[in-house]
Amino acid sequence: MGHASSQGNPCVLVTGGAGFIGSHTTVELLEKGYQAVVVDNLSNSSEKVFERIRQIVGDKADKLSFYQADVADRAALDAIFDENPITHVIHFAGLKAVGESVSKPIEYYANNLGTTMNLLEVMRSHACKSIIFSSSSTVYGDPDELPLTELSPKKNATNPYGWTKWMIEQILSDVCVADPEFNVVLLRYFNPIGAHPSGLIGEDPKGIPNNLVPYVAQVAVGKRDCVHVFGNDYPTSDGTGVRDYIHVMDLAQGHVAALEWMDGKTGCEIFNLGTGTGSSVLEIITAFSEACGQELPYQIDPRRDGDIAENYANCDKAEQEMGWKAQFDISDMCRDSWNWQSHNPSGYEG
Ligand code: NAD
Ligand code: UFG
Repeated sequence: MGHASSQGNPCVLVTGGAGFIGSHTTVELLEKGYQAVVVDNLSNSSEKVFERIRQIVGDKADKLSFYQADVADRAALDAIFDENPITHVIHFAGLKAVGESVSKPIEYYANNLGTTMNLLEVMRSHACKSIIFSSSSTVYGDPDELPLTELSPKKNATNPYGWTKWMIEQILSDVCVADPEFNVVLLRYFNPIGAHPSGLIGEDPKGIPNNLVPYVAQVAVGKRDCVHVFGNDYPTSDGTGVRDYIHVMDLAQGHVAALEWMDGKTGCEIFNLGTGTGSSVLEIITAFSEACGQELPYQIDPRRDGDIAENYANCDKAEQEMGWKAQFDISDMCRDSWNWQSHNPSGYEG
């Protein structure tokens, strides 16, 4: 794919744009008239996602371009900035499996920090000073108080993946101190699930899914026998872990809202992106069973190391400042996850 046609629309570099959240955000950007320049090394994604994105957005796909490259590759990134009038960056690229990060800390620090440092150097040399970063509610650790606001304390991370989010937040806020023209938005996602309502794009984990909903979806489609519930002795309503699940389409719209909001501003701002409602593991299994029309089997297993009992967000700041609020509930999320999974039982390669 060549470089994006320049037609006066703001041009956004989307690192990791072939991945789960990046692909949905790319669709939203194109639908809103932005040019989207995706850079991804396809280490955890498939190039086939771009055919699907084209199907969804139709003619607007002429504002999409894709470069298969590593974000840590200086020459490749320089060329991308030379060829495209990039004004903003949304930085999704990174490794994200919590458990794997414990056994591969060097790979996680090298990739997540290395991509970010190279990106910042190339942005500086091209006078691009606007970046949105994919952070995570993981930076709040095990919370003392719920719901979590942006003023809740950051706690020590419990794994290398969490530390990379923690450190990159710090690096970006330091860059804003050093350069008063710099503009950073840190988006702290809660638990993204769901898929585009078309069923054409969705989450396509490689191997055994680490996260709850992709695992449940594979049970529903018959690829796995039963859901393993990690603990039912937490101090929560039914003893299972509670999280703030957010539809990936709401999350995608949150990025567009952030782009519009940050226009003309400087400094570093943090926003939680969640729904404000917590759901337990058993509630998710029930909602997904309703979505797919069959009772899904589960068994109770021991707690998973490093898991917390409960977290959910207060998202008032995003609503008040950016006018963004999540629209979809758990039943919408499970319906769209099921729609994607049932039409693509083996993901993009199926
Ligand atoms: P994903 O793995 O689907 O997408 C990440 C993409 O980045 C992949 O397409 C991968 O190929 C690409 N990538 C990785 N390293 C790269 C590199 N060095 N150069 C170029 N491309 C590279 O993950 P996702 O769920 O879409 O997550 C996107 C971002 O959001 C990540 O930074 C993740 O840590 C963060 N996040 C995700 C969640 C979640 O639960 N999914 C929660 C909080 C934060
Ligand atoms: N769970 C199960 N069985 C499974 C998988 C998960 O019972 O097979 C439970 C977990 O114990 C937890 C809940 O389902 O109570 C959610 O677990 P996920 O693995 O889906 O999500 P986490 O909250 O552990 O972590 C996710 C992302 C992280 C991110 C964090 C906060 O994986 O990258 O949300 O944004 F940092």
